[in-house]
Amino acid sequence: MLMETRNLTKIYSSGMIHKTKTYALSEADIRIRKGEAVGIFGKSGSGKTTLANLIAGVFPPTSGSIIWNGEPVRYPFRGALRQAVQMVDQHPEQAFDPCWSLKKSILEPYRIHKIPDTKESVDALLAQVGLYEEHLSRNLASLSGGELQRAALARAMAVRPELIILDEPTSMLDSISQAQVLQILKDYQRQQETSYLFISHDPDVMRYLCGRCYFLEKGRIVGEEEYSHE
Ligand SMILES: Nc1ncnc2c1ncn2[C@@H]1O[C@H](COP(=O)(O)OP(=O)(O)OP(=O)(O)O)[C@@H](O)[C@H]1O
Ligand SMILES: [Mg+2]
Repeated sequence: MLMETRNLTKIYSSGMIHKTKTYALSEADIRIRKGEAVGIFGKSGSGKTTLANLIAGVFPPTSGSIIWNGEPVRYPFRGALRQAVQMVDQHPEQAFDPCWSLKKSILEPYRIHKIPDTKESVDALLAQVGLYEEHLSRNLASLSGGELQRAALARAMAVRPELIILDEPTSMLDSISQAQVLQILKDYQRQQETSYLFISHDPDVMRYLCGRCYFLEKGRIVGEEEYSHE
């Protein structure tokens, strides 16, 4: 098993005087095998992004644990684990500095993880997501929504992660851009045996990409479904 969560729970406390507690995730157990695309399906507010952030190491759980390749993880994530898990945000425009060029943005993960950024590797990465060399000098603010989302994928793929978490990566895109992104994800998975945790509220998209999906309701996993792809 690549990753499993055990009784994963997140309670948010807010308010200065009258503390309000939100039970965003309650005792969630999910499993992801190597090379498997697993979906999370649930209504708005059901805890999907919270689950994604916990697995991506953005913040620690209130209780419960994440087991990665048989070992419990510690927060904050360090070294190899930081590279092995990448998240593509629900809002790519917020994940990027709009003043940066695409080149600067794409090279950043190479720099952070000390991976050599050869011309071949950057060219291959651009080709993988359907962007071109002439895009590199452009400001991110000048890219279309679909191009920006593909740039976000390129950044995640640059470090060859074992798990990519995709938080509604196509929800802001038109149907053509959405189909392109899904095709990129399928091709990449076939080539690299990457695992995905794919969050979506679209059952057709989920069925297309995922082999299995969990249903989240009010912070609880209430069911699981396998999809056959014959
Ligand atoms: N930082 C926070 N502080 C307090 N409550 C929060 C915080 N983040 C999320 N919540 C609450 O936790 C619950 C789960 O939120 P979450 O963002 O995980 O849902 P979601 O399933 O991703 O929703 P959506 O489909 O709208 O993106 C919601 O009730 C939300 O209001
Ligand atoms: Mg969300």
